[in-house]
Amino acid sequence: MDIKKVLKEATKEIELSSNQLNLQNIKVAYLGKKGRITELLKSLKNLSLDEKKSVGAELNQLRSEVDNLIKSKFNEIKVEEINSMLKNESIDISFPPPNSISPKVHPISKTFDEVISIFGSMGYSVAEGPDIETDYFNFSALNIPENHPAREMQDTFYIEDKDKDGKPFVLRTHTSPVQIRTLLKEKPPVKIIAPGRTYRCDSDSTHSPMFHQVEGLFINKNANMGNLKGTLIEFCKQFFNVQDLKVRFRPSYFPFTEPSAEMDIAYEIANNKIKLGQGDLWLEILGCGMVNPIVLENCNVDTKNFQGFAFGMGLDRITMLKYGLTDIRSFFSGNLNWIANNGFSIGDF
Ligand code: PHE
Repeated sequence: MDIKKVLKEATKEIELSSNQLNLQNIKVAYLGKKGRITELLKSLKNLSLDEKKSVGAELNQLRSEVDNLIKSKFNEIKVEEINSMLKNESIDISFPPPNSISPKVHPISKTFDEVISIFGSMGYSVAEGPDIETDYFNFSALNIPENHPAREMQDTFYIEDKDKDGKPFVLRTHTSPVQIRTLLKEKPPVKIIAPGRTYRCDSDSTHSPMFHQVEGLFINKNANMGNLKGTLIEFCKQFFNVQDLKVRFRPSYFPFTEPSAEMDIAYEIANNKIKLGQGDLWLEILGCGMVNPIVLENCNVDTKNFQGFAFGMGLDRITMLKYGLTDIRSFFSGNLNWIANNGFSIGDF
């Protein structure tokens, strides 16, 4: 049994090895189940007790030497591989992404932009408020007192944390609290829109727990219902790009407007697509009315000199109508195929 010969050969093979796979094969050839050194160890059983002791010790020594040689060669090869990768590969961070990921603008983002631009052309500026509101701004200041049935109209998400009045914070159920925030900050005349996210416990093809509204508020000395209707009809003509749009105003009730109305747009469904502006079906797109003087007084507005109108429009609804989409939930599915088919190219934006 030439232990020295085995060690010499193994050492040479390990030295010459230049990649991990080859080295792994060498390891198997010497130390694997049927490897040379393993076989030698197995053959110990044929030796006498004395021989077993001395040869066994030598063989164990051989095994650990070969094992160490392989381990250190392994590290050497790894370092070499990393160095050559660093040398040969480079990342060009200015390289454009592959064509398959073409960026798209979400239909809701496009609607936001158009709504701001149409009302902007009518002289409205944009106001903002937080998604997480106090009970006072979302309800009480808007003449929706506690235990008022109007609070049931809006199934609400409450947050455990309490505001300074000891009431739980709410995810705003409408953009109307921005009316209050604006009137407390700005002296009339006021002419603002407030687009943003709103939340209610509701989910079906035309309701989503998170949805979008745009609030409108116009306060001056003599704004009236006629101005309100004219503004909304003009907006719809421009947004939907339809001149003879079939719309209707229905009398309604909101605690923060008096009188109140809801505006519906006519539509029909053909081939599973919404067709707009005609037909016998109606989709409610907004609530509106003359701002209730109680709300103005809550904001210290002089009601002898100022009055105005407000509206709250569902942006998801008008987006569905405009592009013939039938399920509001698809907007928020995060599905890349959906956005690839229904989104807009940056250039169209
Ligand atoms: N805030 C109402 C809603 O979400 C809509 C509305 C806004 C009605 C402004 C009248 C005036 O349903």
